[in-house]
Amino acid sequence: MDVGVGHMETVTAIQHWSERTLSISTTRPDGYAFRPGHYARLSLPEFERPLWRPYSIVSTAAQPQLEFLFSIIPDGKLTSLLGKVEVGAPILIDRNPMGFFLEDSLSPGDTLWLLATGTGVGPYISLLREGQIFAKYRQIYLVYSVRERAELAYDQELQTLQRQNADRFRYLPVVTREPGSGFLSERIPTLIESGRLEAALEVAPLNTERDRVMVCGNPEFTATMRTLLNERQFVPCRRGLAGTMLFEKYW
Ligand SMILES: Cc1cc2nc3c(=O)[nH]c(=O)nc-3n(C[C@H](O)[C@H](O)[C@H](O)COP(=O)(O)OP(=O)(O)OC[C@H]3O[C@@H](n4cnc5c(N)ncnc54)[C@H](O)[C@@H]3O)c2cc1C
Ligand SMILES: NC(=O)c1ccc[n+]([C@@H]2O[C@H](COP(=O)([O-])OP(=O)(O)OC[C@H]3O[C@@H](n4cnc5c(N)ncnc54)[C@H](OP(=O)(O)O)[C@@H]3O)[C@@H](O)[C@H]2O)c1
Repeated sequence: MDVGVGHMETVTAIQHWSERTLSISTTRPDGYAFRPGHYARLSLPEFERPLWRPYSIVSTAAQPQLEFLFSIIPDGKLTSLLGKVEVGAPILIDRNPMGFFLEDSLSPGDTLWLLATGTGVGPYISLLREGQIFAKYRQIYLVYSVRERAELAYDQELQTLQRQNADRFRYLPVVTREPGSGFLSERIPTLIESGRLEAALEVAPLNTERDRVMVCGNPEFTATMRTLLNERQFVPCRRGLAGTMLFEKYW
């Protein structure tokens, strides 16, 4: 329902992944068109004036509902309330989706690397669910770093996708604060600098001939990856100009 400042929608499902990481599904406004990589601005009616925060859309255009993944930030103005909403609660969604974290901004390549920290995995879930990238790339690698194993949102879905696309898609969880978990445990830039990430996949080091890279999440992570990839001659996408690396910085 259009309420002037945006759409007033309804929470339809909530999935808790860990104490502070959850997904919320909502009704979808009429005619709300978006692509994987777009984000919606969300707020709650509790605020006198909407306190908008952007959230990547996890669902696809083919799904009837909108889905978002988020972390409850201690003292976070919006997430401390979002973490308490229940099914049936009203939620505000800004009029139109936005964003430039769109895979087709990249020039054509052989292998697509999807690198995420924390909730930065959200836009990749949308991209993988939609599935068009499977026709565009010979190989797709999703590298997803969280502190603890319990925070690996969509883990089962990603494992299933890997089984269904065993020759095309590899899912590599990284768990940095749970020694002995058996997962890769160093931060993604360290794994790439040392060559241990590519070694784990048994492929040659990242290079612009073969690879296209999307990076999403923690701002220090995106900055480090930009420097690292820049040193390897990767070129950022600019509006209207295809590149070989693409970034979404969450805060
Ligand atoms: C394009 C874009 C897309 C985004 N998509 C998502 C998403 O899909 N899921 C999501 O959880 N967040 C996402 N964010 C971050 C989100 O918009 C909010 O900043 C976040 O939820 C905190 O809001 P808040 O009002 O609770 O915190 P505030 O009171 O505004 O506090 C902000 C502080 O919390 C920390 N912080 C903010 N976001 C995060 C985060 N995701 N993880 C860890 N620490 C954080 C930072 O220290 C920041 O300074 C996105 C941001 C951008 C710019
Ligand atoms: N996760 C928790 O248990 C927890 C609990 C309470 C509060 N919080 C708060 O919630 C917020 C978000 O936590 P989060 O765990 O979702 O996100 P995060 O701090 O961004 O961590 C997510 C993943 O990204 C890695 N990472 C962090 N900085 C990086 C960098 N510069 N380069 C490469 N990798 C990097 C982390 O590794 P490292 O482990 O090496 O940092 C972790 O594997 C923080 O502000 C935190 O204070 C988190």
